[in-house]
Amino acid sequence: MKWKSDIRPEPEPCREQDEGKFEISYRDGQARLGKLHTKHGILQTPCLLPVINPNIRTIEPNEMWNKYGIQALITNSYVIWKHDELKEKALADGVHSLLDYPGVIMTDSGTFQSYVYGDVEVGVEDIVKFQNDIGVDIATMLDVFTRPDMTFAEVEEAVDETLNRAEKSLTAANGTMLNGPIQGGIFPELRVKSAKGMSEHAFSVHPIGGIVPIMENHNYRDLVKIMLASKSNLTPNRPVHMFGCGHPMLFPMLVAMGADLFDSAAYALFARDGRLLTPWGTERITEMEEWPILMPAVVGVTPAEVRSMSKDERTEILAKFNLEVTLQEMSRCRQAIRDGKIWQLAEMRSHQHPSLRQAFLWLITNPARSSMEPLILDDVTASKETGSEKGAWEENWDWLVYSQTSPRIGSESWGGFDTYHRPQIELARRRLFSRWKSNKTGDVILFHGASAPWRERIGYLTDKLVNTDYELFVYTPVGLLPWGLEDLNPWAHIEGPDWLWKRRPDLSWAQRELERLGITDRKIITFDISDTENLHEKMFKKLSLDEPKRDQNKRLTEQMVQKLVVLLNVENSTAQDICDDATFTMSRTERIRNMTDKEGRHLFSPRLAEGGISLTIDGATLLHSLRKEKIPIGFPDEEFGFCPGKGPAWIVVNDDAVPYIKQGRNVMHGFVEGVDKWLRPNENVLIVDTNGNLVGFGRSNSTVSEMASSTKGIAVKTREGIR
Ligand code: GUN
Repeated sequence: MKWKSDIRPEPEPCREQDEGKFEISYRDGQARLGKLHTKHGILQTPCLLPVINPNIRTIEPNEMWNKYGIQALITNSYVIWKHDELKEKALADGVHSLLDYPGVIMTDSGTFQSYVYGDVEVGVEDIVKFQNDIGVDIATMLDVFTRPDMTFAEVEEAVDETLNRAEKSLTAANGTMLNGPIQGGIFPELRVKSAKGMSEHAFSVHPIGGIVPIMENHNYRDLVKIMLASKSNLTPNRPVHMFGCGHPMLFPMLVAMGADLFDSAAYALFARDGRLLTPWGTERITEMEEWPILMPAVVGVTPAEVRSMSKDERTEILAKFNLEVTLQEMSRCRQAIRDGKIWQLAEMRSHQHPSLRQAFLWLITNPARSSMEPLILDDVTASKETGSEKGAWEENWDWLVYSQTSPRIGSESWGGFDTYHRPQIELARRRLFSRWKSNKTGDVILFHGASAPWRERIGYLTDKLVNTDYELFVYTPVGLLPWGLEDLNPWAHIEGPDWLWKRRPDLSWAQRELERLGITDRKIITFDISDTENLHEKMFKKLSLDEPKRDQNKRLTEQMVQKLVVLLNVENSTAQDICDDATFTMSRTERIRNMTDKEGRHLFSPRLAEGGISLTIDGATLLHSLRKEKIPIGFPDEEFGFCPGKGPAWIVVNDDAVPYIKQGRNVMHGFVEGVDKWLRPNENVLIVDTNGNLVGFGRSNSTVSEMASSTKGIAVKTREGIR
């Protein structure tokens, strides 16, 4: 079809060989910005596909394309198939012409109608073939709907039958991209079965099915459980669609768990009975004096004026309002991913509806996790569950936590005790507990009473304490931070009110923190640094110690050792050897810029913004030479741990890629032969050829399972190649 509009050009088709591929271009934990390659354009995700009823078009599809910039929509092939006139036109001119829309068109199969009306008349292969014949971009197989009131046996039968239909449907699709829905009702083990089974077939997208009645009942806790069980068991290289999920209130939490596509009939259905969608719930127009948000659709009219309009006119305005709000919240989610703030957005939205809050609390606290303070708030306690499910959920939560990137640039604004359970903070804490090692045997000094940067208050003081045997920590709202890591995100970047820092330290909590850090049976000495007056005098008086001489170099060396151990996974004594007699170039603000070892090699450069560390060629070469593990072959099962002391993860690339990597080009998916099981997004990795020779180094973009399954996009951002 030639698109007639001159307002917004037709989409560019993807390259033929890329059709159906999904590329992750940016991530925030499991949330991702992706590109789905189709014949009618490269769809940017996460995104919303408005539902078009071919019989009742509340907003014209071409307006969706031109005015709203909507890249994809969804309609129902069964409705078209049942309607002689529509069917004839669709078969003759194609679905894009029928709907007068040039972008990506997804169609559903009639499964939902079978749920609503009991049955459908169409065959499993017929409906897929029909979708192919009318030229849809993404078709849907006829899955078997699983209702929340069905028994385990009934649901299992539906899951098995859906799986049974998979290959037939893919054959009937004849190359058209196909949706393979995940069913399983409210039974996590059946969701797992469905997700694993469907992943084995060549579907392009996996919708999560059977969730409409759950959302209608506001049973968001079940929705979250379904999402976790399904998503964590699906192959990560395909987008996940939330069937029938169009309420913007739900977007942030689902996006944070890895949802990529949503569809919404809600914008039109709610408009018909005078309801407005907002990111915080639903509001009725009936007695409204003011708009809850001013959207373009209602600029210049009052709710009272809209109420007095004809039903059709009113429905159109409200549908536009709802669509605009929905699109806006989706943009907000995408931007939050870019900003590394998707979890915070979900956290914020969780306060908007009691059921959503319950779901969120379940998510962050169930089960109590070993690394975290088990439970802090009473409402958290109320939402906690125990029992047989515990093991599975624990793994699901791990899946979320270990996909996070940390350290990050930017602040973590304090949002109450929820902050403590943000998965990126949990990741940082778990890594610290797993890798950090104490090198002292004396009492513990806990500095408290002030927010970062602490070095401005106690940098000089700690230069004096460095030659004593005291172990130094900062007491922060998200846990104890070893002094050597004083500038590390997130601890150093918690932004909160004064009282948060001024609270009296909770010593029993501090004790438990120390135990997690491997320190037991040591005395804790607290030291308030809120007032810097006579700080040194007070400190040494408290310790009954003559003021030792300042040894800045030693403090900097300790800092580097701790960064190597925690962030580059170097074994503790090896890190000390590397940093022995090192020299430092400093920034104007007295922070380490570069570290040069005793042989004069510049090995590492701390990253000042987030307290991380960068390698140089010499640094990468040294760490490569220290490796004791074998060359990784293939892709291990993802392990939710940190493998302390094994060095930065290796990624093995095939021979075709080697010359490009040596020139400093990125490692692309499809060229990776193997990875270490402790590889994590955004961590430093060493890139080697199949013989284990170092060819470059950089930062991973992916988790182990993404490395194993992805075929398009950047796998590792190469920092430098080694010629
Ligand atoms: N629309 C809403 N839920 C479903 C589902 O479970 N399957 C299909 N095919 N379409 C849906």
